Amino acid sequence: MSLSREELQNLRKSYKLGALSEQHCAPTPKSQFEFWFQEALKAEVDEPNAFTLSTIKAGRPSARIVLFKGFEQEGPVFYSNYDSPKGQQLTTTPFAAATFLWLPLERQVRIEGTVQRISTALSDEYFATRPRGSQIGAAASPQGQVVGSREELEKKFAEIEGRYPEGTPIPRPDHWGGFVIVPNVWEFWQGRRNRLHDRIRYRIEGGAWIKERLAP
Ligand SMILES: Cc1cc2nc3c(=O)[nH]c(=O)nc-3n(C[C@H](O)[C@H](O)[C@H](O)COP(=O)(O)O)c2cc1C
Repeated sequence: MSLSREELQNLRKSYKLGALSEQHCAPTPKSQFEFWFQEALKAEVDEPNAFTLSTIKAGRPSARIVLFKGFEQEGPVFYSNYDSPKGQQLTTTPFAAATFLWLPLERQVRIEGTVQRISTALSDEYFATRPRGSQIGAAASPQGQVVGSREELEKKFAEIEGRYPEGTPIPRPDHWGGFVIVPNVWEFWQGRRNRLHDRIRYRIEGGAWIKERLAP
């Protein structure tokens, strides 16, 4: 069944759950984010740590979802394959944007900044906490490359699994680790009635965070 234009145009929702004011925003964007993140957890938002990661590929945008796994240098950390398309894009052009959507709370958070690899020690530490199957998956998958078949991947997985019997630690592959987005801009968006949403932006000026309201 095809979608009608009318059907799409009539998808309208009035946002009315909350409000956001300059005075009530925390002094730093990280603490504001932590506050909202706790509320997303409390509201049992599905996958609250999933965000859209936008990167630059030869001057053009490229975006996909990854998972927020903690903070370093006041910015969000995520883990990936360094040789993947996104890994290569971030190595060539180390700038990114992160977009979180917490729809049940009618909230969006945007973060922009420069990107760095986290230390190998921190990547090792996190890799060691991952379920064994995910560790083997990370080692087995040449993320982003064309594969001949599903069987090919499963064979590689079984091969690696066989190399490390249960109880033997699986080393972190060199091509897998964390990135941090060191932010210079954050924006907190709260949906409001009549599309007059609240948008509070934090930007760095002289080492201090400036809070400003943006038109919706
Ligand atoms: C909910 C969700 C969470 C994901 N988390 C990650 C992640 O943390 N790291 C990652 O590399 N890919 C993650 N992915 C897969 C990416 O969206 C993407 O398919 C993959 O990283 C390849 O991206 P690339 O080809 O642009 O490098 C996730 C996908 C979804 C839908």
